[in-house]
Amino acid sequence: MPYCQQDDSRTQINGPSIMLEQAPAQAVALTLHELASNAAKYGALSSPSGRIELQWRLQSASRLAVRWMESGGPAVKPPTRQGFGTRVMERVICHQLNGELRFEWREQGVSCEIILQI
Ligand SMILES: Nc1ncnc2c1ncn2[C@@H]1O[C@H](COP(=O)(O)OP(=O)(O)O)[C@@H](O)[C@H]1O
Ligand SMILES: [Mg+2]
Repeated sequence: MPYCQQDDSRTQINGPSIMLEQAPAQAVALTLHELASNAAKYGALSSPSGRIELQWRLQSASRLAVRWMESGGPAVKPPTRQGFGTRVMERVICHQLNGELRFEWREQGVSCEIILQI
């Protein structure tokens, strides 16, 4: 992530090594880019105490679950507007790839789960 040092204790990244096809790889990359830029603008990466946990796992041989969890940033309120970033994530994950994108607007930090058939 361009926002963090490699050994930054503010980020924890965990998951098995998986080779993705082009379409899901692009969708995941785009979504993580949007989530990271939102975290920098509004969320955990906008304050020095914020943290991000990124995890992924295979729920089955063809089903990938990616979980992004923010904590320690400014108190979160559910958004009143959907910006371009949210619309793009929904388009690629839900409409193009028939996956799922779930946000939880917890006060302690945003979390987002991406489910994709791979
Ligand atoms: N990590 C986050 N923490 C707190 N609020 C967030 C976070 N990500 C998004 N939001 C809220 O959701 C809104 C929509 O985000 P997005 O669709 O990416 O639009 P934009 O980045 O252009 O504002 C943001 O304006 C902000 O209010
Ligand atoms: Mg955005």
